[in-house]
Amino acid sequence: MIPLNILITAGPTHEAIDPVRFITNHSTGQMGYIIARKAQRAGHKVTLISGPAGLNPPSHVRMISVRTAREMFGKVKTYIKGKDCLIMSAAVSDFRPIVCLAGKMKRKNSPGVIRLQQNPDILSWVGKHKGRLIVAGFCMETKNLLKHAKEKQKTKNADFMIANRITKLNTPFGAGPTSVAILCPGNKTLRLHNVSKDKVAGILLDKIQKLWYKKHPQ
Ligand code: CTP
Repeated sequence: MIPLNILITAGPTHEAIDPVRFITNHSTGQMGYIIARKAQRAGHKVTLISGPAGLNPPSHVRMISVRTAREMFGKVKTYIKGKDCLIMSAAVSDFRPIVCLAGKMKRKNSPGVIRLQQNPDILSWVGKHKGRLIVAGFCMETKNLLKHAKEKQKTKNADFMIANRITKLNTPFGAGPTSVAILCPGNKTLRLHNVSKDKVAGILLDKIQKLWYKKHPQ
């Protein structure tokens, strides 16, 4: 096995409303940290860019901490250089408040409305500039899971898209088992039902390795 140089993003981002409040996504960061740990143990060189997840950094992994989507974008642009693969498992906040208030918004003076603007789409940017880089994204949907996941795989130019369904009974957040569909190159889909995140990580890394060999024949 040839060790790859892998960049992984994980966790949520925080977009400040004022010094004590922020907008975020549900994300524990578990998936990205598990992939990072597994990749490092398999002999790959791993850099992990993480939003505020509150998890212990995996050992022997280069750890970069960020808070906002724009900080994550900046670090991805820096650390993508020389990498073989990007695994974008972070739950990046699509929006941020137009204004971050300097002082705490008091209940009595609150306008009741927070105006938002879009954050950069990091995966789409990497997809546009990827060259021979292998790129994997994650998505969560409440309906039309495979349709949206296929669209995202195509529009973001990702080799792999790992699709999670959210229902009242099934939450993909946290350390428990998960059900996903891994959309692979060539319109192939692998469905995994009620498996550990460790297993998802292992299968994804295996598929990335195989695609890398295909793109770089010895
Ligand atoms: N992503 C990203 N930058 C963003 C939003 C998402 O890089 N601003 C990445 C995520 O890390 C993930 C993939 O894009 O790997 C899909 O995320 P998702 O939130 O499902 O995509 P969106 O384009 O934001 O789609 P939606 O309109 O459904 O929110």
